Amino acid sequence: MAFLETHNLCKYFGGLKAVDRVNFQVEEGQLKSIIGPNGAGKTTLFNLLSGLYSPTDGKIFFRGKEITHKKMNQISQIGITKTFQITHIFPRLSVFENVRISAQSRKTSFNFWQKADSLEDINHKTMKILEMVQLADSRDRTSSTLSHGEKKYLEIGIALATEPQLLLLDEPTAGMSPAETIMATEMIRGLRDSLKLTIILVEHDMNVVMKISDEVLCLNEGRVLACGSPNEISCNEEVQRVYLGGRKEC
Ligand SMILES: Nc1ncnc2c1ncn2[C@@H]1O[C@H](COP(=O)(O)OP(=O)(O)OP(=O)(O)O)[C@@H](O)[C@H]1O
Ligand SMILES: [Mg+2]
Repeated sequence: MAFLETHNLCKYFGGLKAVDRVNFQVEEGQLKSIIGPNGAGKTTLFNLLSGLYSPTDGKIFFRGKEITHKKMNQISQIGITKTFQITHIFPRLSVFENVRISAQSRKTSFNFWQKADSLEDINHKTMKILEMVQLADSRDRTSSTLSHGEKKYLEIGIALATEPQLLLLDEPTAGMSPAETIMATEMIRGLRDSLKLTIILVEHDMNVVMKISDEVLCLNEGRVLACGSPNEISCNEEVQRVYLGGRKEC
């Protein structure tokens, strides 16, 4: 069985089928992107995986165990962490404090961090994360003074501090400048390569998707339209029609 797997996953809001019989797999260490037009069901799918929503039907398996109806805090405890499409930080606290609070919330250690029990360990872990997300020099800044892109990096840092085994990133580059987007792309690739982290990414920027994904899933009206390598997806005529505005990417 794959690291994460969904079987005929459905979420209906009244008559609206936001996620409709979605089957997909992610292998350990893989970086998988989810693309699709506005309203395709990408965020809803993330909300199902992270336990914010309970599925109307279907199943979710993580590392061979069924997690379909687990609550958000249980999902977070087993190592699935999601960032939000809208940034979610404590604006009056420093960059360092935002990450440290998240690090302290995690009592046990999984794979890539040393066991962090003492305050010194937690401070050390916090600094390591700030280096990974390029915010070490900004550690004492009040978070509200960060640029939009830096806030997004901080949010990734807060997510990393929970020691995820699977990281769900919802539009991490939305609203970023081109330079910030390039840096975020490198950063996300670095997390996969150096931490061997499994990542699912919802992303609209096709340049980012093409550069960093091992595989791409395209959703449309809640259904899986196509799944394959970045090259296969950008050459897929259905994907070109519904998502790329008829643009031929290959
Ligand atoms: N809580 C909710 N209640 C009712 N309808 C919802 C709810 N959340 C999402 N929807 C609807 O479900 C559909 C899928 O929405 P979703 O936010 O998952 O799309 P998306 O692919 O993330 O879009 P975007 O690219 O704009 O972020 C949309 O029609 C949306 O209006
Ligand atoms: Mg969305």
